[in-house]
Formats: sequence, structure tokens, C-alpha cells
Amino acid sequence: MKDFRKLIESVDAPFVLAPLAGVTDSVFRYICARQGAGICYTEMISAKGLHYGSANTEDLLDMWKDKAPVGIQLFGSEPDIMAEAADKLEDLPNVLIDINMGCPVPKIVRNGEGSALLLQPELASRIVMKLSEATRKPVSVKMRAGFSEVDIDSTVEFAKLMEQSGASAITVHARSREQYYSGTADWEAIRAVKRALKIPVIGNGDVFSAEDAMRMLEFTGCDLVMIARGAMGNPWIFREAHALYKGLSKPERPSAEEVIALIEEHARMQVEEKGEKRGILQMRKHASWYSKGIKGASALRRRINSAESLAELMETTGELQKLRQSE
Ligand SMILES: Cc1cc2nc3c(=O)[nH]c(=O)nc-3n(C[C@H](O)[C@H](O)[C@H](O)COP(=O)(O)O)c2cc1C
Repeated sequence: MKDFRKLIESVDAPFVLAPLAGVTDSVFRYICARQGAGICYTEMISAKGLHYGSANTEDLLDMWKDKAPVGIQLFGSEPDIMAEAADKLEDLPNVLIDINMGCPVPKIVRNGEGSALLLQPELASRIVMKLSEATRKPVSVKMRAGFSEVDIDSTVEFAKLMEQSGASAITVHARSREQYYSGTADWEAIRAVKRALKIPVIGNGDVFSAEDAMRMLEFTGCDLVMIARGAMGNPWIFREAHALYKGLSKPERPSAEEVIALIEEHARMQVEEKGEKRGILQMRKHASWYSKGIKGASALRRRINSAESLAELMETTGELQKLRQSE
């Protein structure tokens, strides 16, 4: 499975779930895959943590519910340690390894990791080379389109270097590091990288609807579209994009009943996987995101955000149901 193209051929529609720290665990990946996400990424995982066998880091590798191919995203800056971390993933089926070259957080950048690698092309190249030699899995890179500002020429140059170093696909988040998540993504950067590279290119940035996903495919010519914030609380974006891609009409938005049923199912799976305390803590933010569009939910959000048990969370979803029925 070294070839990323084979992976692309194996998926039914070209839409993938982005790596999202604190969000894309095995349960959420399962939920998005069920709605049609072709590849689902883990949150960024410390290569050092894997190398030293940290239990918290290894938890992030949990593939409890995964069915779709999983992109395991590693961050780090030491080629040898990253290669050893990759070696530990060798027995996992249906996975690819993605290298984080986009994280803007100061703690990560100060360590020379994440988007700091954009400023160190030679080191980034050595990381890709070492990792590709160390594993039979496809190795991809997720980069931003510049450090201080979007710079299309340097983005293309950097992406080409990653390709020459052995990367089997590149994701371009079309923002600079300084932009974090603000401003608009410059899809021209994705288009330019796609034109210049032979390996598959994954476009990322500002896809908040199925229509956006189709527009990105058309405008940039990218091979896959990666959806991040647009999937938070909205896994249905994948089924909608899937339908448009297949030339079908866009399915109805989920009814309030469907949303409430998913909150309850997600919460149960979260508790089953992580235990009640951690599971519910993790679930609070998902429940808030899911319930955004539901009438009456804002009044209950404070309770959702302080729920400590499955029973407490279910009480609030029960009340949401009642509100619906009394309408
Ligand atoms: C809460 C949050 C967590 C994120 N965690 C990661 C991460 O672990 N690894 C990564 O490469 N990008 C991470 N990102 C960036 C996203 O994967 C994506 O590149 C960015 O949000 C742009 O896509 P969007 O406009 O569709 O949201 C994160 C973004 C957010 C909002």
C-alpha cells in the first residue's frame, strides 16, 4: 500500500476528514466514515511520545471503531525518532503516515516542529526520506502555504522538494502559519501545487459545505478535499458532498431527531471506548456543536457543558426531544 493512488482508488468519493486535535478520535472517525469520509486522520501524535512508549500517546492510536483508511499524523523534528515511531506502526492495517508541517501553535513551533519545518526545508526533506525508508506505508505531508504570509512560489518549491524526498501525497492547507485559522484560504496555492506535482494533492481550507467541497475540486483540480472545521458537529457534510459528487441531489439536512439520536449514540460509544468520566468530558464539545442548529438547544448548552455522566447528558437530550414534541 506504499502507493497513495491505490488508496485513492479504494475510496468511493474524494472527501477526507482532517486531523483535528481533541476531536478526531476513533469514534468521531467512525461517525464520519459512516457518512462517506474516504480517509480519516488521527489528531497529531508526538513521534517522541511513541518512541518513548508514553501511554497517553499510545491511546491516540486506538483504532477501536475504524473502518475507512486511517491517516496517522505524526509531529516531530528529529528524523531518526520519527522513523522509529513509524516503525512501531508497521503492523497496523489500512493506515498511512502523515507528517505535520502545519501546526501554528507557539509551543510546537518553538521546538522546530509543525509549521516551523516550512522554514527548514532540508530538515523536512530528511524527515520525509528517513520515514519513507523506514516504513512500507505511504508517507504524506500536510503543509501550510507559507510561514509569515501565503507565498505560492515557495509553497510549490517546498512541495516539490517533499515529492523528491519520497512523499507519496501532499496536503496543502492554503493559509500561512501567521494566519492560524483566520482570513480566507487562498485556493490558488492548492491549484499551483497540483499543477507542479505528479503525486496526489489534497486541498484543505474553508470547506464548510458540500458545495464548497465541489468548488474546491473544480477550482484546484486536487485529488482529494480535506474537511476540518466544517465536519465538527456536522459529519453529514460527507454524505452531502458524496451525493453531489455522484451527480445526485443534495440530501435534506438532518432532522433534529437525527441529530439528537446521533448525540446519544456518539455519547454511548465515547463512554464505551474511554470510560464514563473521560468519555463524557470529551463528549461535551461534540454535543454543543451538534446541537447548534436545534431550537431550544442554546438554553440547554450550559447543562451539556457541565454534564459529568451519561445519564446527565441523556437527560438534556431527552429535554431537547420533549421541546421538539411540544412544538
Ligand atoms: C481544533 C483544531 C484542531 C486541529 N488539529 C490539527 C492537527 O492535529 N493536525 C493538523 O495537521 N491540523 C490540525 N488542525 C488544522 C486542520 O486540520 C485544518 O488544516 C484547518 O482547520 C483548515 O481547514 P478548515 O478550513 O476546513 O477548518 C486543527 C484545526 C482545528 C480547528
